[in-house]
Amino acid sequence: MEYDALTGWDDDATAETYAAFTRAYPMYSASSRDLAARAGLADSRVIVDLCGGTGTTAEAILALAPPDATVVSLDSSAAMQGIGRRLLSDPRVTWVNAAAEVLADHVPAGSVDAVVCNSAVWKTNVADVVNAVRRVLRPGGRFVFNVGGVFAGVTHPAALTPPTGLSLSALIEQIAIQDYGIVPPTAPVPAKLPLPVITELLAHAGLRVVAAEVTGQSTTNAERSAWLSIPVFAHPEGALSYEQKMAILAEATAQTKPDDVTVTSWLVIVAELPEEV
Ligand SMILES: C[S@@+](CC[C@H](N)C(=O)[O-])C[C@H]1O[C@@H](n2cnc3c(N)ncnc32)[C@H](O)[C@@H]1O
Repeated sequence: MEYDALTGWDDDATAETYAAFTRAYPMYSASSRDLAARAGLADSRVIVDLCGGTGTTAEAILALAPPDATVVSLDSSAAMQGIGRRLLSDPRVTWVNAAAEVLADHVPAGSVDAVVCNSAVWKTNVADVVNAVRRVLRPGGRFVFNVGGVFAGVTHPAALTPPTGLSLSALIEQIAIQDYGIVPPTAPVPAKLPLPVITELLAHAGLRVVAAEVTGQSTTNAERSAWLSIPVFAHPEGALSYEQKMAILAEATAQTKPDDVTVTSWLVIVAELPEEV
């Protein structure tokens, strides 16, 4: 089967801006460290960084894994990996340019102690990814990943407190409507990966959920604005050029306080291949 995973990601501007963002702001390094900590890497030998991008998650894994462990960082975007190879020249990391769904074509069956996937799984064909992960894990091995709250249909209690004034996203929407005539989509994003669906997909592949937690990640407006300047995330979606989107972002950002914080929700899952399988 062919996998069309590259929507927007195999782009040099996105890769460069993403890498600069991850080094300037904690969003991806913090969530990567959180997942790596949950993966129980102390005795691991082979770890897969699934949808590893520019290597931020691989760095978090290396910090917790034994010195002789190796990390396979797999991603379908050559542009993202090109930056990763340049910035993370650690001989323990192998870079594999492939779709997550075909992980098992690139890693020997039963050879992996842990698969860690930060901020990506909902972009994949999850059933195929889970099956691939199950094939490469050793008995007792872990699959640790997170799902954005919108896609999992979860909200952390701290995210329920309404921000003072309009959020950056609401301001962007308002400016796009008023100044550019853009009508944003009104339908809410369906929660395509709620916990029962994830649990069922994992169970179908023979994996068991050992922990599931809703977490909240605090982000300042300054960080959120920098994140929205990464071309693949630039808002609003649709007909506007990147320059127009950046003009809207600048105008919206100017109406917010840089240090004001909003909370993003995540569903974090730790799954395991039972020993007896
Ligand atoms: C938000 S980035 C996360 C990268 C990294 N895990 C981190 O925390 O910095 C999402 C990554 O998922 C990758 N991706 C999306 N769909 C994919 C798929 N089906 N197979 C492999 N990589 C995929 C993109 O190319 C991108 O590098």
